Amino acid sequence: MGIEIVTLAERPDLHSAIWDMPSGWPPFMLEDPVARLMGRLHTLFPELQFAALDADEVVGYVHAASFAWDGDRASLPDRGWDAIMLQAFRDRDHGNEPTAVTLLEATVRPDRRGGGLSNALLVGVRDRCRELGYGALFGPVRPTHKSLEPTTPMAEYIARVRPDGLPEDPWLRVHTRLGAQIVRIAAASMTIGGSLAQWRGWTGLPFDRTGDVIVPGALVPVHASVEHDHAVYVEPNVWMMHEL
Ligand SMILES: CC(C)(COP(=O)(O)OP(=O)(O)OC[C@H]1O[C@@H](n2cnc3c(N)ncnc32)[C@H](O)[C@@H]1OP(=O)(O)O)[C@@H](O)C(=O)NCCC(=O)NCCS
Repeated sequence: MGIEIVTLAERPDLHSAIWDMPSGWPPFMLEDPVARLMGRLHTLFPELQFAALDADEVVGYVHAASFAWDGDRASLPDRGWDAIMLQAFRDRDHGNEPTAVTLLEATVRPDRRGGGLSNALLVGVRDRCRELGYGALFGPVRPTHKSLEPTTPMAEYIARVRPDGLPEDPWLRVHTRLGAQIVRIAAASMTIGGSLAQWRGWTGLPFDRTGDVIVPGALVPVHASVEHDHAVYVEPNVWMMHEL
């Protein structure tokens, strides 16, 4: 049997299996203040929390949320992930009619990565969003191999394509092969600030010099200031759009 995509609205019993799966994000990213809202997704948007099942075992998940898109791609926020997450919660609180869905996180269980599962996951999520009547699925996408070259500007990184015309980055490639388009870069998609002591705790790195610090898993360097005793990470993502 193939991969089956179900939602937490249909299978609330899968809540722990999803939340207990290790996220692919480096731990410091969970210190993004907006990311605290992730814990409320299953109550506010249960129909958009997806699990990929293989013989009733959860092998991947997608967190998503709906928002009231005005139909203009140019209105997608520069503050990508943080801004769209806040908008989704605001729209739901105010009863604004949602018209589009944004992906927030996609993860395949570590032992199942590299086996083509992400494709089935995204196709399933797209189908379900279409069935719910949405016209577009967006994502402030985190290119998976960008962390291997944090000093490369995102614009230069995403311009790299293979001879077949598909992006060199594997995760951008999965989306593109499914017909998604790159809209533009969300230059300040997630902003994570903290004291140097906090950054030491989050990363295990010394944070004892002023300047750029390379942190494993970060897509760009973290800016540190010893004088001001703080460091800030501003993650760029790539707005992608799947028309449904
Ligand atoms: C990103 C992720 C969802 C991809 O899922 P996956 O099922 O492992 O991916 P696939 O097996 O479908 O591979 C996707 C593409 O990446 C390529 N790929 C996979 N692992 C790779 C690696 N280590 N090196 C190079 N390419 C790799 C595959 O060849 C494939 O490209 P192709 O279709 O052109 O051959 C998964 O790796 C993951 O959960 N990562 C941690 C969380 C994360 O970063 N999520 C994305 C941002 S929220």
